[in-house]
Amino acid sequence: MQIVESIAELREALRARSGTVGFAPTMGYLHAGHASLFAASAGENDTTVASVFVNPLQFGHNEDLSTYPRDPERDARLAKEAGVDVLWMPTVDVLYPPGFSTRVRVEGLTEGLCGRSRPTHFEGVTTVVARLFHAVRPDRAYFGQKDYQQLAVIRRMVEDLGFGVAVVGMPVYRELDGLAMSSRNVYLQGDERVRALALRLALQAARRSWAGGERRMSCLAQLLHTTLVEYGVDEVDYAEVVDGATLVRSASDCADADRETVALVAARLGRTRLIDNTVLSAPDPGLDRA
Ligand code: PAF
Repeated sequence: MQIVESIAELREALRARSGTVGFAPTMGYLHAGHASLFAASAGENDTTVASVFVNPLQFGHNEDLSTYPRDPERDARLAKEAGVDVLWMPTVDVLYPPGFSTRVRVEGLTEGLCGRSRPTHFEGVTTVVARLFHAVRPDRAYFGQKDYQQLAVIRRMVEDLGFGVAVVGMPVYRELDGLAMSSRNVYLQGDERVRALALRLALQAARRSWAGGERRMSCLAQLLHTTLVEYGVDEVDYAEVVDGATLVRSASDCADADRETVALVAARLGRTRLIDNTVLSAPDPGLDRA
């Protein structure tokens, strides 16, 4: 595996290779969920590129940019084991040289859910992903579905700006007890780790209700909220059931049988904000067996 920092080094490494390029952008502190993206890419492409970059643009002023967990040496080991050929670890100056003043903003899809409490977040994500795509020029790009809204926003940007990249969404990767894997899980202190299971319990409650025939989005959302509170999260950021394409409730409040319906939660435990989701209208082996 080659480790590169500058865009020139990255392009040089890619020039020496032929065939298709798969790309998995990350913010590092890699875990098995990231490894599943790398492995999927390695199985489908001639070359797999991963990036590790803690993107300052996607953090709000009062968020955890300075404390975001970092371990570049461990990241390099995990990336190599998971089949990455080129690991790109750019500095802030490489991606945002002095004078950089462009932003890429997707409207509509970014307004609700995470966008409500993190108003500048998605602009930071789409700006960096556009920047990374221009440098890597991948055929396929791999993202985890845990960030369901992010995936929808990136798909929109790729289509609107004609990137010509196939965006592949990979299933939420979970710990054995069902907690969705996240680099931020390391922040959980004491009983917060157990209370964090409230997120998957809420999603499972919604799945059971859906299986029992409930289709009113507001009732399913209320059940998510009640379950999160009952199992002890400190603060519910949102608990929503929406149409998977528009990310809002349908006008009738009734889930449309022909469309994807998704339940999404975001909650705080101490200083840690966690998100999770499940597509109610599809099987979810990760949640159904947890
Ligand atoms: O999902 C993430 O880790 C980040 O938002 C991403 C896509 C790497 C952009 O910084």
